Amino acid sequence: MAQVLITEAALERRIRSLARQIERDFRGGELVVVALLNGTVPFLADLIRRLTLPLRLDFLGVSSYRGATQPRKLIYTKELRLDVRGRSVLVVDDILDTGRTLSSVVAKLRRLKPRLIRTCVLLDKPARRIETLQADYVGFKIPNLFVVGYGLDFAERYRNLPFVGVLRPELYRLPSGCAIEP
Ligand code: IMP
Ligand code: MG
Repeated sequence: MAQVLITEAALERRIRSLARQIERDFRGGELVVVALLNGTVPFLADLIRRLTLPLRLDFLGVSSYRGATQPRKLIYTKELRLDVRGRSVLVVDDILDTGRTLSSVVAKLRRLKPRLIRTCVLLDKPARRIETLQADYVGFKIPNLFVVGYGLDFAERYRNLPFVGVLRPELYRLPSGCAIEP
């Protein structure tokens, strides 16, 4: 199925060190962690269990559709419930690719007047960036490959793999009528 790119052990080590970095930077304060659904679930669960500072957790549902002709469109499928005004917000996403998702989310959150916004992504694929934006916390920089596992999907599958892997090319072929753009 998928070839391992980042092992379970490497994920665990890196997430432990990301958590230490976040703790140091937010010393004493309370955080609102805003996680993007659905790809962050395993990463988020592992990250927040390593954080000992006080935090509240909320989710934003973001989905992107790309039709045959029109450009990719972001759709919010779940809105925030917590009030983030005056708060420190840590946005967590699975992967920073073109940057469209994260920049749209950060712009949306800014309108809610938080004290500060920091961003944290498990993976960063700088090769495909369109928006000029960097994440404050990055787990791993990866080359321009389509990856799955540990929350990341291909056509909603493979999210449950405990590692990050690269799909074998023959698996990219989908049943007809099922067009998916990585
Ligand atoms: P961006 O808006 O282009 O930065 O893309 C972010 C979203 O695209 C992520 O939250 C993922 O859902 C998806 N994505 C980008 N690259 C990959 C990949 O290699 N594997 C799986 N999903 C990806
Ligand atoms: Mg996805």
